Amino acid sequence: MKALVLSGGSGTRLRPFSHSMPKQLIPIVNKPVLEHVLGNIRDLGVTEVGIVVGTRASEIIEVVGDGSRLGVRVTYIHQEQPLGLAHCVSLARTFLGDDDFVMYLGDNMLPEGIVRAADEFRTQRPAAAVVVHEVADPRAFGVVELEPDGTVARLVEKPSDPRTNLALIGVYFFTPAIHEAVASIKPSARGELEITDAIQWLVENGAKVKADEYHGYWKDAGQAADVLDCNERLLADLRRENLGSVDSASEIGDRVHIGAGARIVRSRIDGPAVIGAGTVVEDCHIGPNTSIGSGCTLRATRVRDSIVMDGAEISHGPGLRYSLIGRNAVIGTGVAGAACHSLVVGDHTRIRVAA
Ligand code: TTP
Repeated sequence: MKALVLSGGSGTRLRPFSHSMPKQLIPIVNKPVLEHVLGNIRDLGVTEVGIVVGTRASEIIEVVGDGSRLGVRVTYIHQEQPLGLAHCVSLARTFLGDDDFVMYLGDNMLPEGIVRAADEFRTQRPAAAVVVHEVADPRAFGVVELEPDGTVARLVEKPSDPRTNLALIGVYFFTPAIHEAVASIKPSARGELEITDAIQWLVENGAKVKADEYHGYWKDAGQAADVLDCNERLLADLRRENLGSVDSASEIGDRVHIGAGARIVRSRIDGPAVIGAGTVVEDCHIGPNTSIGSGCTLRATRVRDSIVMDGAEISHGPGLRYSLIGRNAVIGTGVAGAACHSLVVGDHTRIRVAA
């Protein structure tokens, strides 16, 4: 079995972040979403991975490289425009050959893994298998209707009156039967080749399509609130480790990971929280539910329920909560007691400041 990971797309819902970095590279517990994805794929024993990349290809290639660091072998497949998930399958036709494959959306987080679904697919080998998840409001998703034996009876994209609350999430298993289906469908009203249409084509042409329910935690990194929620969920499993230095005036809680060369001075860190390598934290109160990247400087501030990326500097602010702070961002007045805000703000930025 091979893997096809989709990491193109436009990421409009994650602006302004998607102006700075593709959402597949956003760090969750200081590790890019895409590395979490590739870890789940490697856990299936799959090592041949095609990654579809769009306009942000160079940034993704810089981080993932040939994949050897992550135990996989990566082939990049370039997509000039995000013309749909089924379009990605057709672009990858040469890479996929006549092998079965798992298609995995590169912004999807399934921390419980997909080993069980993969085992089912391998033993039963239907033409296709979709992974579904029960959601409260399925109207924004592809919704699956099942026969009593778990076979897919019908797929409906974003129905206004859904008949089930089983939503398609970002993992699909395919035999080569999908290629004829992809070649047979036409672009949808929004101009994309939809994978749901290709799977529905299989169902209508008598092929067996199975659904496997994923019961664990699931999020896609499509919006800032979801990214923060996911970070909080994964931090909960953190174990206490200190590879840096902590002075005697600091207080460090359980489930706090301090990276190599980090320095904690006169500060309190409530877990779960991770402090990246080489970061300096002075006179601060950090955590809980917070990831601070590498090489950051935090002085006289309060940060909780947030992600702060590599190289950021935060000082003398009123405190941050539910915040996503980009690489090398500088926040705060820099001096104690300053009376007004001074901002350099890029496109689509959202700022909520305390009065
Ligand atoms: P989406 O989140 O559906 O689309 P998007 O990335 O364009 O985001 P937004 O809706 O906020 O504008 O994409 C799911 C995943 O599939 C994501 O990792 C991007 C990837 N993708 C491609 O690689 N090529 C495509 O043509 C599309 C539509 C998505």
